[in-house]
Amino acid sequence: MKWTEQEASLPLGKQEGFEKFHHEYEAAMRKVNAKVEILTSDFEVRNDYSPIHHIEKRLKTAESIEEKLTRLGCEVSIPSARENIKDIAGLRIICNFIEDVYQVADMLTAQDDIELVTCKDYIKNPKENGYRSLHLGLRVPVFLIDRKVVVPVELQIRTVAMDFWASLEHQLRYKQNNEGRISAKTNIELKACAEVSAKLDVQMQKIFDEVKK
Ligand code: GTP
Ligand code: MG
Repeated sequence: MKWTEQEASLPLGKQEGFEKFHHEYEAAMRKVNAKVEILTSDFEVRNDYSPIHHIEKRLKTAESIEEKLTRLGCEVSIPSARENIKDIAGLRIICNFIEDVYQVADMLTAQDDIELVTCKDYIKNPKENGYRSLHLGLRVPVFLIDRKVVVPVELQIRTVAMDFWASLEHQLRYKQNNEGRISAKTNIELKACAEVSAKLDVQMQKIFDEVKK
């Protein structure tokens, strides 16, 4: 398919080939989801304990991909989305303890059909606002009717405590009704909460390690 000037004027979701393009990401998301589910059940079968608390997943809509391309100053087209947006397929794995986060990350990236492209460790290096999470940029092969495609998937792995903080911070940002900005005072309070919950994670890990012994 040749991408023409005419296509460029159409919204992304109406451009030729969008459904096929979007399906590749949906399939990749399902594939990684299945991998995480298999790890969870294997843990349960062997240990009676799973480090995975739960999984969330989301596929960016055509509108959301288009909004991000526009925000980044990129052309609104399928080739441009392929090139510039690596989080069309996104999964979030919520773990019980900090060590579980790294254990799950290691298990997934050791699988020979998963390629690790980027790793941002906001647990070892939290963001200025206190945000903590491990972000992995992956590439996974997907087998379609007639060919194999290798598709990027964004994976966020964090503890229940990190997730609790991130969800509240996200909600506040949109509730405060000032273009997603949080007031300086709220920012300081939120950061303090992030520090408290990080300490809690360390304490809980210690208790768990002692009980395991
Ligand atoms: P995006 O363009 O949004 O994907 O950001 P990026 O390319 O700079 O990547 P980054 O790894 O910093 O963040 C990607 C995703 O992590 C976001 O879409 C959020 O889901 C999550 N995230 C990052 N920073 C924060 C934060 O400060 N608060 C919350 N609640 N979530 C965050
Ligand atoms: Mg994102």
